Amino acid sequence: MMRFGLLGAGRIGKLHGANIAGTDKARLVAVADIDAGAAATLAKAHGAEARSPDEIIAAKDIDAVLIGTSTDTHSDYIEKAVTAGKAVLCEKPVDLDSKRIEACLEVVERAGQPLMIGFNRRFDPNFASLKRRLDAGAVGTVEMVTVISRDPGPPPISYIERSGGLYRDMMIHDFDMARFLLGEEPVVIHALGSVLVDPAIGKAGDVDTAMVMMRTASGKLCQISCSRRATYGYDQRIEVHGSGGMIRAGNIHETTVELASGAGFTSDPVMNFFLQRYSQAYRDELSAFIDAVEAGKSPSPSGYDGLMAQRLADAATRSQQSGDPVSL
Ligand SMILES: NC(=O)c1ccc[n+]([C@@H]2O[C@H](COP(=O)([O-])OP(=O)(O)OC[C@H]3O[C@@H](n4cnc5c(N)ncnc54)[C@H](O)[C@@H]3O)[C@@H](O)[C@H]2O)c1
Repeated sequence: MMRFGLLGAGRIGKLHGANIAGTDKARLVAVADIDAGAAATLAKAHGAEARSPDEIIAAKDIDAVLIGTSTDTHSDYIEKAVTAGKAVLCEKPVDLDSKRIEACLEVVERAGQPLMIGFNRRFDPNFASLKRRLDAGAVGTVEMVTVISRDPGPPPISYIERSGGLYRDMMIHDFDMARFLLGEEPVVIHALGSVLVDPAIGKAGDVDTAMVMMRTASGKLCQISCSRRATYGYDQRIEVHGSGGMIRAGNIHETTVELASGAGFTSDPVMNFFLQRYSQAYRDELSAFIDAVEAGKSPSPSGYDGLMAQRLADAATRSQQSGDPVSL
Protein backbone atom coordinates (compact mmCIF):
# COMPACT_ATOMS: atom_id res chain seq x y z
CA MET A 1 0.00 0.00 0.00
CA MET A 2 1.49 3.33 -1.08
CA ARG A 3 1.51 6.03 1.61
CA PHE A 4 0.75 9.49 0.17
CA GLY A 5 1.34 13.06 1.24
CA LEU A 6 -0.86 15.52 -0.66
CA LEU A 7 0.25 19.10 -1.33
CA GLY A 8 -2.72 21.35 -2.15
CA ALA A 9 -6.24 21.22 -0.77
CA GLY A 10 -7.94 23.28 -3.47
CA ARG A 11 -10.21 22.11 -6.31
CA ILE A 12 -7.97 19.37 -7.67
CA GLY A 13 -6.41 18.56 -4.28
CA LYS A 14 -9.82 17.66 -2.87
CA LEU A 15 -10.44 15.32 -5.80
CA HIS A 16 -7.04 13.60 -5.49
CA GLY A 17 -7.41 13.38 -1.71
CA ALA A 18 -10.72 11.54 -2.11
CA ASN A 19 -9.25 9.24 -4.76
CA ILE A 20 -6.22 8.33 -2.63
CA ALA A 21 -8.44 7.68 0.38
CA GLY A 22 -10.85 5.72 -1.80
CA THR A 23 -8.47 3.12 -3.20
CA ASP A 24 -7.19 -0.04 -1.49
CA LYS A 25 -3.84 0.56 -3.17
CA ALA A 26 -3.04 3.72 -1.16
CA ARG A 27 -3.38 5.54 2.13
CA LEU A 28 -3.63 9.31 2.57
CA VAL A 29 -1.22 10.05 5.43
CA ALA A 30 -1.07 13.86 5.39
CA VAL A 31 -2.29 16.99 3.60
CA ALA A 32 -0.59 20.40 3.35
CA ASP A 33 -1.75 23.75 2.04
CA ILE A 34 -0.73 27.36 2.73
CA ASP A 35 -4.38 27.70 3.67
CA ALA A 36 -4.09 25.79 6.96
CA GLY A 37 -7.87 25.59 7.34
CA ALA A 38 -8.27 23.95 3.91
CA ALA A 39 -5.55 21.39 4.72
CA ALA A 40 -7.09 20.60 8.11
CA THR A 41 -10.60 20.16 6.65
CA LEU A 42 -9.43 17.88 3.84
CA ALA A 43 -7.17 15.85 6.15
CA LYS A 44 -9.98 15.38 8.65
CA ALA A 45 -12.41 14.24 5.94
CA HIS A 46 -10.10 11.31 5.12
CA GLY A 47 -8.61 10.45 8.52
CA ALA A 48 -5.25 12.03 7.60
CA GLU A 49 -3.06 14.60 9.37
CA ALA A 50 -2.52 18.23 8.40
CA ARG A 51 1.22 18.93 8.10
CA SER A 52 3.43 21.54 6.45
CA PRO A 53 4.74 20.85 2.91
CA ASP A 54 8.30 20.47 4.26
CA GLU A 55 7.14 17.98 6.89
CA ILE A 56 5.40 15.91 4.19
CA ILE A 57 8.45 15.99 1.92
CA ALA A 58 10.79 14.93 4.75
CA ALA A 59 8.40 12.38 6.33
CA LYS A 60 9.60 8.80 6.89
CA ASP A 61 6.00 7.50 6.87
CA ILE A 62 5.29 8.81 3.33
CA ASP A 63 6.37 7.09 0.07
CA ALA A 64 4.87 9.39 -2.55
CA VAL A 65 3.91 13.05 -2.87
CA LEU A 66 0.98 14.19 -5.00
CA ILE A 67 1.40 17.86 -5.96
CA GLY A 68 -1.89 19.67 -6.59
CA THR A 69 -0.89 23.17 -5.51
CA SER A 70 -0.93 26.29 -7.70
CA THR A 71 1.13 26.01 -10.90
CA ASP A 72 3.96 28.35 -9.82
CA THR A 73 4.90 25.97 -6.98
CA HIS A 74 5.13 22.70 -8.95
CA SER A 75 8.75 22.68 -10.09
CA ASP A 76 10.11 23.68 -6.65
CA TYR A 77 8.03 21.00 -4.90
CA ILE A 78 9.00 18.35 -7.48
CA GLU A 79 12.68 19.09 -6.91
CA LYS A 80 12.37 18.99 -3.12
CA ALA A 81 10.29 15.81 -3.10
CA VAL A 82 12.47 13.75 -5.47
CA THR A 83 15.62 14.92 -3.67
CA ALA A 84 14.05 13.63 -0.43
CA GLY A 85 13.55 10.24 -2.13
CA LYS A 86 9.82 10.48 -2.83
CA ALA A 87 7.97 9.29 -5.93
CA VAL A 88 5.98 12.22 -7.35
CA LEU A 89 2.69 12.57 -9.16
CA CYS A 90 2.39 16.25 -10.11
CA GLU A 91 -0.51 18.08 -11.68
CA LYS A 92 0.06 19.70 -15.06
CA PRO A 93 1.84 21.91 -15.97
CA VAL A 94 5.32 21.33 -14.51
CA ASP A 95 5.90 25.06 -14.98
CA LEU A 96 4.87 27.79 -17.39
CA ASP A 97 8.52 28.25 -18.45
CA SER A 98 10.12 25.47 -20.54
CA LYS A 99 13.64 26.37 -19.33
CA ARG A 100 12.49 25.96 -15.72
CA ILE A 101 11.01 22.55 -16.64
CA GLU A 102 14.33 21.48 -18.19
CA ALA A 103 16.20 22.44 -15.00
CA CYS A 104 13.61 20.62 -12.87
CA LEU A 105 13.89 17.45 -14.97
CA GLU A 106 17.67 17.46 -14.49
CA VAL A 107 17.13 17.38 -10.72
CA VAL A 108 14.63 14.52 -11.18
CA GLU A 109 17.14 12.63 -13.32
CA ARG A 110 19.89 13.03 -10.71
CA ALA A 111 17.57 11.98 -7.88
CA GLY A 112 16.49 8.87 -9.83
CA GLN A 113 12.95 9.02 -8.44
CA PRO A 114 9.77 8.42 -10.49
CA LEU A 115 7.84 11.46 -11.73
CA MET A 116 4.47 11.35 -13.45
CA ILE A 117 2.60 14.39 -14.81
CA GLY A 118 -1.18 14.60 -14.47
CA PHE A 119 -2.30 14.55 -18.09
CA ASN A 120 -5.44 12.80 -16.91
CA ARG A 121 -7.17 12.66 -20.31
CA ARG A 122 -4.88 9.80 -21.40
CA PHE A 123 -6.67 7.73 -18.73
CA ASP A 124 -10.23 8.54 -19.79
CA PRO A 125 -11.64 5.04 -20.44
CA ASN A 126 -12.94 6.03 -23.90
CA PHE A 127 -9.78 7.79 -25.03
CA ALA A 128 -7.61 5.00 -23.57
CA SER A 129 -9.67 2.41 -25.45
CA LEU A 130 -9.33 4.41 -28.68
CA LYS A 131 -5.55 4.58 -28.18
CA ARG A 132 -5.30 0.81 -27.57
CA ARG A 133 -7.21 0.10 -30.80
CA LEU A 134 -5.09 2.64 -32.67
CA ASP A 135 -1.92 0.89 -31.46
CA ALA A 136 -3.41 -2.45 -32.55
CA GLY A 137 -3.74 -1.06 -36.09
CA ALA A 138 -7.52 -0.46 -36.14
CA VAL A 139 -7.23 2.37 -38.70
CA GLY A 140 -3.91 1.44 -40.30
CA THR A 141 -1.34 4.19 -40.44
CA VAL A 142 -2.38 7.39 -38.65
CA GLU A 143 -2.77 10.30 -41.07
CA MET A 144 -4.93 12.97 -39.38
CA VAL A 145 -5.73 13.63 -35.72
CA THR A 146 -8.52 15.98 -34.65
CA VAL A 147 -8.93 17.17 -31.05
CA ILE A 148 -11.97 19.22 -30.04
CA SER A 149 -11.71 20.81 -26.61
CA ARG A 150 -14.19 23.45 -25.45
CA ASP A 151 -14.92 24.53 -21.91
CA PRO A 152 -18.52 25.32 -20.90
CA GLY A 153 -17.53 28.88 -19.95
CA PRO A 154 -14.49 31.05 -19.28
CA PRO A 155 -12.85 31.24 -15.84
CA PRO A 156 -12.70 34.59 -13.98
CA ILE A 157 -10.46 37.29 -15.49
CA SER A 158 -8.26 37.14 -12.36
CA TYR A 159 -7.50 33.49 -13.30
CA ILE A 160 -6.90 34.33 -17.01
CA GLU A 161 -4.40 37.04 -16.03
CA ARG A 162 -2.15 34.54 -14.20
CA SER A 163 -2.82 31.50 -16.41
CA GLY A 164 0.01 31.85 -18.94
CA GLY A 165 -2.55 32.14 -21.74
CA LEU A 166 -4.98 29.73 -23.43
CA TYR A 167 -2.25 27.63 -25.08
CA ARG A 168 -0.28 27.01 -21.87
CA ASP A 169 -3.24 26.81 -19.50
CA MET A 170 -5.97 25.03 -21.45
CA MET A 171 -4.62 23.66 -24.74
CA ILE A 172 -1.69 22.03 -22.89
CA HIS A 173 -3.98 18.99 -22.35
CA ASP A 174 -4.77 18.91 -26.07
CA PHE A 175 -1.10 19.14 -27.05
CA ASP A 176 -0.46 16.12 -24.85
CA MET A 177 -3.41 14.28 -26.40
CA ALA A 178 -2.13 15.17 -29.89
CA ARG A 179 1.34 13.74 -29.12
CA PHE A 180 -0.29 10.67 -27.52
CA LEU A 181 -2.36 9.93 -30.63
CA LEU A 182 0.13 10.99 -33.33
CA GLY A 183 2.91 8.86 -31.85
CA GLU A 184 5.37 11.34 -33.37
CA GLU A 185 6.57 14.81 -32.45
CA PRO A 186 5.12 17.74 -34.42
CA VAL A 187 7.80 19.66 -36.33
CA VAL A 188 5.72 22.62 -37.46
CA ILE A 189 2.84 24.40 -35.73
CA HIS A 190 0.53 27.22 -36.82
CA ALA A 191 -1.85 28.82 -34.34
CA LEU A 192 -4.63 31.31 -34.94
CA GLY A 193 -6.42 32.85 -31.99
CA SER A 194 -9.34 35.27 -31.55
CA VAL A 195 -11.29 37.01 -28.85
CA LEU A 196 -14.89 36.01 -29.57
CA VAL A 197 -16.24 35.15 -26.12
CA ASP A 198 -15.33 38.06 -23.81
CA PRO A 199 -13.49 41.31 -24.71
CA ALA A 200 -12.12 41.38 -21.15
CA ILE A 201 -10.06 38.27 -22.01
CA GLY A 202 -8.53 40.22 -24.91
CA LYS A 203 -7.81 43.17 -22.60
CA ALA A 204 -6.00 40.73 -20.30
CA GLY A 205 -3.72 39.90 -23.26
CA ASP A 206 -5.17 36.47 -24.05
CA VAL A 207 -7.43 34.84 -26.63
CA ASP A 208 -10.52 32.75 -25.87
CA THR A 209 -10.89 30.89 -29.16
CA ALA A 210 -8.05 29.18 -31.00
CA MET A 211 -7.25 26.69 -33.73
CA VAL A 212 -3.91 24.99 -34.14
CA MET A 213 -2.55 22.96 -37.04
CA MET A 214 0.54 20.77 -36.68
CA ARG A 215 2.58 18.47 -38.93
CA THR A 216 5.02 15.71 -37.93
CA ALA A 217 8.24 14.84 -39.75
CA SER A 218 6.55 11.95 -41.60
CA GLY A 219 3.67 14.22 -42.68
CA LYS A 220 0.93 13.29 -40.18
CA LEU A 221 -1.41 16.24 -39.57
CA CYS A 222 -3.25 17.37 -36.46
CA GLN A 223 -5.82 20.06 -35.78
CA ILE A 224 -6.96 21.28 -32.36
CA SER A 225 -10.13 23.34 -31.94
CA CYS A 226 -10.31 25.08 -28.58
CA SER A 227 -12.75 27.52 -27.02
CA ARG A 228 -13.36 28.93 -23.57
CA ARG A 229 -17.11 28.62 -24.24
CA ALA A 230 -19.51 25.92 -25.38
CA THR A 231 -23.19 26.63 -24.72
CA TYR A 232 -23.96 22.88 -24.60
CA GLY A 233 -21.38 21.92 -21.94
CA TYR A 234 -17.85 20.52 -21.78
CA ASP A 235 -17.08 19.40 -25.34
CA GLN A 236 -14.32 16.78 -25.45
CA ARG A 237 -14.00 14.75 -28.64
CA ILE A 238 -11.18 13.11 -30.56
CA GLU A 239 -10.95 11.55 -34.00
CA VAL A 240 -8.14 9.78 -35.79
CA HIS A 241 -8.21 9.14 -39.54
CA GLY A 242 -5.86 6.57 -40.97
CA SER A 243 -5.01 4.60 -44.10
CA GLY A 244 -7.52 1.90 -43.08
CA GLY A 245 -10.41 3.85 -41.58
CA MET A 246 -11.42 6.30 -38.88
CA ILE A 247 -11.82 5.99 -35.12
CA ARG A 248 -13.44 8.54 -32.82
CA ALA A 249 -14.59 9.03 -29.23
CA GLY A 250 -17.44 11.39 -28.43
CA ASN A 251 -18.81 13.24 -25.45
CA ILE A 252 -20.33 11.55 -22.41
CA HIS A 253 -23.88 12.63 -21.67
CA GLU A 254 -25.44 12.91 -18.24
CA THR A 255 -27.72 9.98 -19.09
CA THR A 256 -28.09 7.73 -22.12
CA VAL A 257 -31.79 8.66 -22.47
CA GLU A 258 -32.93 9.85 -25.89
CA LEU A 259 -36.33 11.33 -26.70
CA ALA A 260 -37.67 11.03 -30.24
CA SER A 261 -40.50 13.14 -31.59
CA GLY A 262 -41.53 14.77 -34.82
CA ALA A 263 -38.88 17.40 -34.07
CA GLY A 264 -36.12 14.79 -34.13
CA PHE A 265 -34.01 13.10 -31.46
CA THR A 266 -32.94 14.85 -28.28
CA SER A 267 -30.57 13.63 -25.57
CA ASP A 268 -29.45 14.96 -22.19
CA PRO A 269 -26.63 17.55 -21.92
CA VAL A 270 -23.00 16.44 -21.96
CA MET A 271 -21.27 16.25 -18.59
CA ASN A 272 -20.63 19.81 -17.62
CA PHE A 273 -17.00 20.05 -16.59
CA PHE A 274 -13.75 18.23 -15.90
CA LEU A 275 -14.30 17.06 -12.32
CA GLN A 276 -17.36 15.11 -13.46
CA ARG A 277 -16.34 14.27 -17.04
CA TYR A 278 -12.93 12.90 -16.09
CA SER A 279 -13.71 11.45 -12.63
CA GLN A 280 -12.80 7.90 -13.70
CA ALA A 281 -9.74 9.17 -15.57
CA TYR A 282 -8.33 10.73 -12.37
CA ARG A 283 -8.85 7.43 -10.52
CA ASP A 284 -7.21 5.42 -13.30
CA GLU A 285 -4.33 7.93 -13.45
CA LEU A 286 -3.64 7.42 -9.74
CA SER A 287 -3.86 3.66 -10.11
CA ALA A 288 -1.41 3.69 -13.07
CA PHE A 289 1.05 5.77 -11.04
CA ILE A 290 0.94 3.38 -8.07
CA ASP A 291 1.24 0.29 -10.32
CA ALA A 292 4.23 1.71 -12.21
CA VAL A 293 6.12 2.84 -9.10
CA GLU A 294 5.49 -0.44 -7.26
CA ALA A 295 6.64 -2.42 -10.32
CA GLY A 296 9.81 -0.29 -10.55
CA LYS A 297 8.73 1.04 -13.96
CA SER A 298 8.85 4.66 -15.15
CA PRO A 299 5.35 6.14 -14.86
CA SER A 300 3.76 7.67 -17.96
CA PRO A 301 3.07 10.47 -18.87
CA SER A 302 6.55 11.50 -17.77
CA GLY A 303 8.26 14.78 -16.99
CA TYR A 304 9.51 14.71 -20.60
CA ASP A 305 5.88 14.59 -21.80
CA GLY A 306 5.25 17.63 -19.60
CA LEU A 307 8.17 19.43 -21.24
CA MET A 308 7.16 18.56 -24.80
CA ALA A 309 3.55 19.73 -24.30
CA GLN A 310 4.89 22.97 -22.85
CA ARG A 311 7.20 23.50 -25.84
CA LEU A 312 4.21 23.10 -28.17
CA ALA A 313 2.24 25.63 -26.08
CA ASP A 314 5.16 28.08 -26.23
CA ALA A 315 5.49 27.63 -30.01
CA ALA A 316 1.72 28.06 -30.51
CA THR A 317 1.84 31.29 -28.50
CA ARG A 318 4.72 32.56 -30.67
CA SER A 319 2.93 31.51 -33.86
CA GLN A 320 -0.26 33.30 -32.88
CA GLN A 321 1.66 36.46 -31.97
CA SER A 322 3.68 36.50 -35.21
CA GLY A 323 0.95 35.16 -37.48
CA ASP A 324 3.44 32.69 -39.01
CA PRO A 325 3.95 28.92 -38.65
CA VAL A 326 6.74 28.02 -36.21
CA SER A 327 9.23 25.17 -36.77
CA LEU A 328 10.16 23.03 -33.82
N1 LIG B 1 -5.40 17.80 -14.66
C1 LIG B 1 -6.47 18.56 -14.56
O1 LIG B 1 -7.51 18.27 -15.14
C2 LIG B 1 -6.44 19.78 -13.71
C3 LIG B 1 -7.64 20.39 -13.36
C4 LIG B 1 -7.60 21.51 -12.51
C5 LIG B 1 -6.40 22.01 -12.07
N2 LIG B 1 -5.24 21.40 -12.45
C6 LIG B 1 -3.96 21.94 -11.96
O2 LIG B 1 -3.92 21.75 -10.55
C7 LIG B 1 -3.29 22.86 -9.92
C8 LIG B 1 -4.22 23.42 -8.86
O3 LIG B 1 -5.42 23.86 -9.48
P1 LIG B 1 -6.77 24.08 -8.64
O4 LIG B 1 -7.82 24.33 -9.64
O5 LIG B 1 -6.94 23.00 -7.64
O6 LIG B 1 -6.41 25.45 -7.90
P2 LIG B 1 -6.91 25.95 -6.47
O7 LIG B 1 -6.55 27.39 -6.43
O8 LIG B 1 -8.31 25.52 -6.22
O9 LIG B 1 -5.99 25.14 -5.44
C9 LIG B 1 -4.63 25.38 -5.28
C10 LIG B 1 -4.29 25.20 -3.80
O10 LIG B 1 -2.87 25.30 -3.63
C11 LIG B 1 -2.62 26.01 -2.43
N3 LIG B 1 -1.27 26.56 -2.48
C12 LIG B 1 -0.81 27.60 -3.24
N4 LIG B 1 0.51 27.78 -3.03
C13 LIG B 1 0.89 26.83 -2.14
C14 LIG B 1 2.13 26.51 -1.54
N5 LIG B 1 3.25 27.18 -1.84
N6 LIG B 1 2.16 25.47 -0.67
C15 LIG B 1 1.04 24.77 -0.36
N7 LIG B 1 -0.17 25.04 -0.90
C16 LIG B 1 -0.24 26.05 -1.77
C17 LIG B 1 -3.71 27.07 -2.38
O11 LIG B 1 -3.90 27.58 -1.08
C18 LIG B 1 -4.92 26.28 -2.90
O12 LIG B 1 -5.64 25.65 -1.86
C19 LIG B 1 -2.94 23.85 -11.05
O13 LIG B 1 -1.59 23.68 -11.39
C20 LIG B 1 -3.83 23.43 -12.20
O14 LIG B 1 -3.22 23.68 -13.48
C21 LIG B 1 -5.24 20.31 -13.24
